[in-house]
Amino acid sequence: MSQTSITPESKLPALGTTIFTQMSALAAQYNAINLSQGFPDFDGPDYLKARLAHHVSQGANQYAPMTGVQPLRDAIAAKTAALYGYQPDSNNEITVTAGATEALYAAITALVRPGDEVICFDPSYDSYAPAVTLAGGVMKRIALQPPSFRVDWQSFAALLSPRTRLVILNTPHNPSATVWGKSDFESLWQAVKAQEIYILSDEVYEHICFAAEGHASVLEHPQLRERAIAVSSFGKTYHMTGWKVGYCVAPVALTAEVRKVHQYLTFSVNTPAQLALADMLNAEPEHYRHLPDFYRARRDRFIQALAKSRLEVLPCAGTYFLLADYSAISSLDDVAFCQWLTKEVGVAAIPLSVFCADPFPHKLIRLCFAKQEATLDAAAERLCQL
Ligand SMILES: Cc1ncc(COP(=O)(O)O)c(C=O)c1O
Repeated sequence: MSQTSITPESKLPALGTTIFTQMSALAAQYNAINLSQGFPDFDGPDYLKARLAHHVSQGANQYAPMTGVQPLRDAIAAKTAALYGYQPDSNNEITVTAGATEALYAAITALVRPGDEVICFDPSYDSYAPAVTLAGGVMKRIALQPPSFRVDWQSFAALLSPRTRLVILNTPHNPSATVWGKSDFESLWQAVKAQEIYILSDEVYEHICFAAEGHASVLEHPQLRERAIAVSSFGKTYHMTGWKVGYCVAPVALTAEVRKVHQYLTFSVNTPAQLALADMLNAEPEHYRHLPDFYRARRDRFIQALAKSRLEVLPCAGTYFLLADYSAISSLDDVAFCQWLTKEVGVAAIPLSVFCADPFPHKLIRLCFAKQEATLDAAAERLCQL
């Protein structure tokens, strides 16, 4: 029998396997310590796991409501009010999604029309651009420069056009580990207020912020939140990235549009996990309140352990990533350096250039410190030998 293979014309021809998958595979192949992909090597809270088992055993195993289970939406509304001084309507302004990834995709799909321009800040998380491209939008990127990665608001204003539809931001920022302050949100507001421009604020690391003034959320800005979709992830907060439960908060009209996409993308999210997360938010709010201290201790231990290395560690104000400059060690480009580091030194990291559309000539790697102390110590020992 003859076999014919047909190959569809790709809608995303430039995309291959993500660097995160590649580096994790290389780390496994070479038995390297994996500080590349952003996931903890420790488990989440016992109470959360017990509540998941409880709800499964109680038969909460059928479809959840499309918008998310009521107790979870209520708990999210209460948490948002407690943290950001603004209480969204749990029925019409909160949607539970399959991780932050789905919320980002649904928001972009709902808002971006063919030919619309979308501004994002490079280095940027890798899921934004493909979603914009599939929606027919055009990415307009602002290249932030190390070590501060601050936004130059004049350059930002110069990039706006009548076609600008959406601005995608991320704070605390993966991969630069920098955070926006309230003044950044005010500058953003001043720049966009005269046009119909929407804001997609990726705040998945909202609880992993080391800034003295805490995490600044778009939801705290009274005017911006009227046109913003704020995205969060329980995976980051509860060390359970594999559960893939996130949510977004947006005003009624925006939420209605996001839900139209969410309804046919996933329809609804894992029921017992949602119920368990609601219990966790209500019973142990101190978990997320203590998260900055929890991760600060790991960050500081890792920085201390790297002090004798020839890596230059950049400031880290949020997320569980550290940036390190390796120019004193190697002249390889960052992708080649990360491959070499994995194969020859036994530590896997992520090159920063993969987060940028334009050439990124800096010698920077991203190291994930959401790891057990022994893992971090072992990695630092290897890195100190370079
Ligand atoms: C900046 C950023 N946004 C979104 C996500 C995706 O979150 P989730 O796993 O909840 O889909 C990640 C995960 O690494 C991230 O770093």
